[in-house]
Order: sequence, then C-alpha cells, then structure tokens
Amino acid sequence: MVFKVSLILLALTSTLVSAYPASSQYASHIEARAVKDEYDYIIVGGGTAGLTVGDRLTADGKYTVLVIENGVLDNSTAILTGGAGGGMNAARMYTINSSPQSGLNNRVISVGIGRVVGGSSAVNGMVVQRGTAEEYNLWGDLSGGQPTSWNWKGLLPSFRRAMHLTVPSENLQRLMNVTYDLSVWGQDPDTKVYATYSESGSGQQKFFYDAYKSYPGVHVPKDNGNGENGLSFFLVSMDPTASSRSYARTGHWDPVANRPNYELVTGQRVNKINFDSSITATGVTFVPVSGSGAATTVRARKEVILAAGTVHTPQVLELSGIGGADLLKKANIPVLVDLPGVGSNFHDHTYLPFYGIRFTKNPTYPTIQVPRAGNIQSANLGVFLGLPVVAPDAFERIASNFEAQDPAAYLPADTHPTIIEGYRQQQKLLGKAMRSKGTTFFNTMINGIGGAPQNLRPVSRGTIHINPSNPQGEPIVDYRALSNPIDLDVFVEFIKFFRRFHSYGTLAQYQAQETAPGANVQTDAQIATWLRGQLNPSVYHPVGTAAKMPREWGGVVSEDLLVWGTKKLSVIDGSIMPVIVGATTQQTVYAIAEKAAEIIKARQ
Ligand SMILES: Cc1cc2nc3c(=O)[nH]c(=O)nc-3n(C[C@H](O)[C@H](O)[C@H](O)COP(=O)(O)OP(=O)(O)OC[C@H]3O[C@@H](n4cnc5c(N)ncnc54)[C@H](O)[C@@H]3O)c2cc1C
Ligand SMILES: *[C@@H]1O[C@H](CO)[C@@H](O)[C@H](O)[C@H]1NC(C)=O
Ligand SMILES: *[C@@H]1O[C@H](CO)[C@@H](O)[C@H](O)[C@H]1NC(C)=O
Repeated sequence: MVFKVSLILLALTSTLVSAYPASSQYASHIEARAVKDEYDYIIVGGGTAGLTVGDRLTADGKYTVLVIENGVLDNSTAILTGGAGGGMNAARMYTINSSPQSGLNNRVISVGIGRVVGGSSAVNGMVVQRGTAEEYNLWGDLSGGQPTSWNWKGLLPSFRRAMHLTVPSENLQRLMNVTYDLSVWGQDPDTKVYATYSESGSGQQKFFYDAYKSYPGVHVPKDNGNGENGLSFFLVSMDPTASSRSYARTGHWDPVANRPNYELVTGQRVNKINFDSSITATGVTFVPVSGSGAATTVRARKEVILAAGTVHTPQVLELSGIGGADLLKKANIPVLVDLPGVGSNFHDHTYLPFYGIRFTKNPTYPTIQVPRAGNIQSANLGVFLGLPVVAPDAFERIASNFEAQDPAAYLPADTHPTIIEGYRQQQKLLGKAMRSKGTTFFNTMINGIGGAPQNLRPVSRGTIHINPSNPQGEPIVDYRALSNPIDLDVFVEFIKFFRRFHSYGTLAQYQAQETAPGANVQTDAQIATWLRGQLNPSVYHPVGTAAKMPREWGGVVSEDLLVWGTKKLSVIDGSIMPVIVGATTQQTVYAIAEKAAEIIKARQ
C-alpha cells in the first residue's frame, strides 16, 4: 500500500515541476459546458491512438485539439500498479456480448475493450510484440496499386517513434539469452510510452526455449521487433523507473495536459459527425454518457479524426450516414455516403484457453533466477511460427483448398460485391502467406509445458454494425468465428503440432501425456469437434472494420486515412488494419497513430 501511495506522489510531483503553475494542472480536462465552439482538430476517442495523435498535433502549439472520450480520467492505482489485467475492471470497460456464434456451438463471447481515458491501453495485458515484415507488407499489397508506404520499410520510422525502448539487463541477457537490435527501436525523449523487457525467467522457460530452438524450422531472431518470426523474447508496456503501466494516458496526456491548445472532455459520447452539403466534415455532436444533460455541437476547422476503436468507429460512421445503404435505411438514417465496407472485414486472433499436457517422467529443469525487482508483468517468451513449420505435411493442401474457394462462399449471404472483391484480394495474398515461414499463424507463450495456442491469422471475417432497431445502443458484434472452415483445419494442425513437439528429440524421454483434448480425441474430425466447444475468437485484438483498402475492394479509408467519399474526416485507430498482424496489437496501433500524425500534419 505504501508503495502504491508513493507512486501516486511521484506522478503528482512530476506534473508539478513542469513549466506551468500547479493551479493549471489538468486545466485542459474540461467540462462539456467549457468546450469552445471550434477547434482545429476534433479527435473522437481518447484511447491508444487518439491520445497519441492529440499529443503530436499539439506539440508545436500552432493548432488546437479537442479530444472527446466516453470514459473518465480514472485515477485508480490498480491501473498503474496492478500489472497485466490490473486495469481490467467492469468500470473501465464496455459491456458488450457478441451475437451467438454458430461455429462455436452457439456460445456468446464477451467483447472486451477499454472505456476510460487511455482506452484499451489502460486495461490490456501489457504485452508488446511486433508483427513480421511480410505481414506489414500485406498492407501495402492491399493498396490497389496506389503508391504506398504502408509496409515494413515505410512503418519502421513510426515504430521507432511509437515506443521508448528500455534495454534488457545484463542478467537477463546472460541468463536467458535475451538479445536485442537497437536499429529497430527508438529512445525518443518525446516518446514516453515505454517498452521494457520483463526481468524474469525460469529454468522451465529455458528448458522449453532450448526444445523449441532445436525443432526443425524454428528460427531465433535477434529481436522480436526486427521483422522476423520464430522464438523470441517480447517486451511489456512498463515504465522502467516507476515499475508501473505505461499507457496512452501516462505517455500522451499526463505529461502534456497543461498545453493550452490540448483539451479533453470525458464522459461524453460522440453520436454524430456533422457534414456540409459537399460531405466535408464540419464537426461533431456529443451527448453525456450519464444520459442527463444537453447535447453539444462543436466545429472542426481542419479535420475530424476518428479514434473510437475497431468496435465503435464503424458505429460512429453509420450513425452519421456513412455505411452500407441497405443497413442505414433499415435504421432510418439518411445515407450520405453508401460505403458498405464500414463494419465489414472484422477479425481478431483466436485462441484455445487450455491445452492440457504433462510429462510422466519429470525432467530436471535448470536452476535460473533472474532478479525481478519491481516487475509487474512477467510474460516475456513466445514462439511465432508460419504454417510450413507447424504443418509441414498439410500447409500445401490447406493453402490450395483456401485458394480454390469462391471468395463469397463463406461471407454473409448479402455481402456487397466490393467486399467480396476485397476478400478475393486478401485470399490471393493469404494463400501465399500460408506457404511462407515468415507470416505467423501459430503462437504460444512459453512458461512451462504446453501453452494456450493462438491462431494469429484467421481467414473468417465477421461484422460490427449498428443495431438497426437501436442504433444508439451498443453495436452488434459478430465474429462469425470458424465460418470459414480453413480456420478449423489450421487449428487442428496446431493440436497435432503440439503433440509432435512434446515428444520430439530430447523431449521424447519424458513421455508426455495429453489431458485435453486427450487420447480419445484422435482423428482430425474428432479434434475439430472438440475445438468448436473450446475456442475463443478474441484475444481482445479486434481490427479491420474501417480498413485501409480501395473503395472498390470494400475499403473504408484511403492510403492517407481519409474516409472514402468524404472530406476532412480520417480514421487513425486499430480498425484501419486491412489484415491483422501476427502479434499483439498495441505496438502496431501506436505506430499507426504516429504515422497518422505525420500524414495529418502534411495536410496542414
Ligand atoms: C483486455 C485487453 C487486453 C489486451 N491485451 C493486449 C496486450 O497484452 N498486448 C497488446 O499489444 N495489445 C493488447 N490488447 C489490444 C490493444 O490494447 C488494442 O489493440 C489497442 O489499445 C487499441 O487501440 P485503439 O486506439 O484502436 O482503441 P482504444 O484504445 O480502445 O480507444 C478507443 C477509445 O474510444 C472511446 N470511444 C469509443 N466510442 C466513442 C464515442 N462514440 N465517443 C467518444 N469516445 C468513444 C473508447 O472509450 C476508447 O477510450 C488488449 C486489449 C484489451 C481490451
Ligand atoms: C483524476 O484526477 C484528475 C486530476 O486531478 C482530475 O481532473 C479527474 O477529475 C480525476 N478523475 C476522477 C474520475 O475523479
Ligand atoms: C541466442 O540468441 C541468438 C539470437 O540473437 C541465437 O542465434 C543463438 O543461437 C542463441 N543462443 C543460445 C545459446 O540459445
């Protein structure tokens, strides 16, 4: 307790020593009635991406920014010091359940996302991982032939700006063979979102590190962020000095909250973007979340910037008349731009919460003790593998079956032709990716035997749309989990891979015995049936509902992040990823936001 209190004092002290007098502390956190009529930029959503861009656009003092956030400035110490999941609390999250998932025996999935200043970065598991070069290059390949910088090379400067690296200790490097590559990280003094190595390690981790390392095809990259996959140590979003959560608020709001040109209003929900007759965004209207109090309308001189996240960005667009015309008509919303891609292309990572396996003969694990003072999050080792490594006998069959599909076959029956075309384009690229080691499908974190395997590259596509009978209520989230049978084929291979791995090479002598699914679940069909009862289609990494793709491919934003068919309206959050990355998503969202800030500044 004393420890927690001193952390808060520390946080306050650092605010007090800033150039502004103490009385103006948080002066920029304002009440709705203090909101001015007009700002240069209005940012919808004070989450991971929204606060990053807000900070960057106000840094030179030339332009005014208002951020409007549904949640509150929550000062609970649990967010900072509670470690992974410490911020996860119903008070700071939306309560949304998915529609029943027919591919998962009609189970309903709880959709977790942050609803607090800092957004999902305030409640997430703090894991910091980066996808591979091939995976970011897919985004460029989905530009429709437009000149693009949405690829590994073009994004690297944004990654270097996005997080401030803390290098691993000598102990961690020596005891666990943690290696790093400074050329793919930044240590920018203006970047106060920290990526820090978790100073932890155990003999069991080292034992399985060696086992994975000796498995055929498993590469050990020098750094989790160097664009390669394999066996690697990843980082956590932790402030190395305070040993506390480092997130969008501590990085991009608290240190700069006293800028007179940066304002934040909380507890308010944007329910409409306003346009003039040429479909140029002129501002937004927002209402108090409490339900009592008047609506406020505010104008944007330069741009309205949507950063409401993958679940709510499509809702705000649809409420404003930008979306599929059929849906909008059902909801009695006048159609401004018929843009059916809004809310389509939704996907996330899929995982198996429990794979049970134990050794019947106990290995002797090495004794390793990494001094772990001040550590609040310990996950740090994972294996990220392409399909040819995990399923050497099956990947070619899976890839050809996928490529042979009619692209419309597993999308909803009434899918718009532009969305089908976008899926056809993805199908070509993902078919190739299934044959490449460098695009990650399989992942598990390594702490001991087994793990909770994840499919980081599902090909099923869901939807997130307003509920036509209650458009202002929470949107309808449909993962459409396992709607494309390829995802089940891939996961069946993961179970078979885990079986092979745990009796491969030096592991054979320990006679692994699987308890879940277990020995009586043998054939592919049996494994598939078992998986339908177990899999979870979300690792809290929703993406894709406002994809950066051509309009004729069902995309929602251009290469410059402007919403098709509109002017002065952009999207900058996780929803713009056309295809997900084979990594947890926060680092990528910060990088997207850094790139977005550059793009928006270039329009000034
Ligand atoms: C429980 C959980 C665990 C996770 N674990 C990890 C992890 O360990 N590692 C990792 O890399 N990633 C993790 N993620 C994912 C990662 O945090 C997200 O991908 C990322 O933070 C998304 O950023 P964003 O800016 O797109 O959206 P968010 O950060 O969610 O921001 C959207 C903001 O907009 C606000 N908003 C929405 N609608 C409106 C409206 N109409 N008006 C006003 N405001 C609105 C929301 O309240 C929210 O604050 C996790 C996510 C969650 C939820
Ligand atoms: C958190 O602290 C800030 C700064 O003192 C304050 O403006 C804000 O209202 C507080 N939040 C809540 C929910 O009390
Ligand atoms: C240590 O990591 C490097 C990658 O940076 C790898 O090439 C090497 O094989 C590893 N060494 C050991 C002993 O595991």
